[in-house]
Amino acid sequence: MFHVYGFVPSLLFSQAIFEMPTLNKQVIFSKVPTDYPVAGEHICVQDSSIDLDAPLEEGQFLIKLLALSVDPYMRNRMRDASSQGYTSEFILNEPMTGDTMNVVLKSNNIKYKEGDLVHGKTACGIFAQYAVISKEMEPMYEVENGPKSTGLPITNYLGALAITGLTGYVGLLKYGAPKKGETLYVSAAAGAIGQLVGQIGKVLGLRVVGSAGSDIKTKFLVEELGFDAAFNYKTAHTYTEKLKELCPNGIDIYFDNVGGKMLEAAINNFNNHGRIIGCGMISQYNGQEPEHVDNLIMIISKRLRFEGFVVFESLDMFESFRNDVTKWLLEGKIKYHETIFDGIELTPQALVDMLRGKSIGKQLVKVADF
Ligand SMILES: NC(=O)c1ccc[n+]([C@@H]2O[C@H](COP(=O)([O-])OP(=O)(O)OC[C@H]3O[C@@H](n4cnc5c(N)ncnc54)[C@H](OP(=O)(O)O)[C@@H]3O)[C@@H](O)[C@H]2O)c1
Repeated sequence: MFHVYGFVPSLLFSQAIFEMPTLNKQVIFSKVPTDYPVAGEHICVQDSSIDLDAPLEEGQFLIKLLALSVDPYMRNRMRDASSQGYTSEFILNEPMTGDTMNVVLKSNNIKYKEGDLVHGKTACGIFAQYAVISKEMEPMYEVENGPKSTGLPITNYLGALAITGLTGYVGLLKYGAPKKGETLYVSAAAGAIGQLVGQIGKVLGLRVVGSAGSDIKTKFLVEELGFDAAFNYKTAHTYTEKLKELCPNGIDIYFDNVGGKMLEAAINNFNNHGRIIGCGMISQYNGQEPEHVDNLIMIISKRLRFEGFVVFESLDMFESFRNDVTKWLLEGKIKYHETIFDGIELTPQALVDMLRGKSIGKQLVKVADF
């Protein structure tokens, strides 16, 4: 907090008379991209200011941003307001929003106390160093003091223990219907969801094979996370042959994060009555030419079940997910790798790096000391 000391006859040099506003950096959606977004062009960081001493109205509370998450769905939100998408679009020249973890600095709302950790829910948390949350915005923020009781890092509550983790858990358990001894194949396996899916698969007694976009990532999957096998899809001669080699008993469950030709290759290697979990198709998000999947007829001959899902329809599983994954993390049965950039200024680059596959594990940004 800054004070300016000035001349006041009755209080000579003794008292603050002006409150100086505090710098408040915000991440702004500045231009609609047609391809991969570019940091500084489509997403910028701008300075604004906030008076942290301003009185709060009834129901308001003041939060300080500690960490934020960048996720693939944000690319879909970076669109023109007139086009359709599966989530609401970002507003041009306004702060972006997403999953955030914050601390309450001051409160005039009985539900949020000073010092509480507060989660800005998926697509809702404001990407600004400070924000005053009004009564109307309250449903977008929930008290999340989990890190204080479990001792797990705050950042885990934006990935492994948040919607990202729930997506992997629900996808595999509900839509994959796994049985011990089956073979699970996961694409984008070294990412935020993929790393969790593969490790849950191991906890459940599956044989787990993953693919990722670099040798460092595939080594990490096998040596650090305990996958049975992994391959670099960028250097594989053909996906179909590579999957045949690494899944000699065929695939029973495919957790699809990428779509396109990888999906086609997985179908070629499926066993009868296999399950394809349609989680995401990131290979199609950044303006690339759509890739055709030419063997869908095999869904009939192999009697496959191909089911897409959206995690928000399975929030009833949140409690069991939280309990299971917290326990597995604390017991060390699951490791959750995070790439954390330091400083809100690096948010645009963090988002671009995640989309381009440069991050390992969950990409996050630390904004202030926890
Ligand atoms: N259904 C739902 O409710 C739901 C909810 C959340 C997320 N999702 C989806 O789940 C998927 C994974 O999300 P996440 O948060 O875990 O992201 P992530 O895997 O941490 O990051 C995305 C990864 O995708 C890979 N990738 C990028 N372009 C690719 C391409 N052209 N071909 C193959 N791989 C590519 C990159 O890794 P490589 O180095 O391996 O290329 C990148 O690291 C996404 O498709 C996302 O949209 C679905």
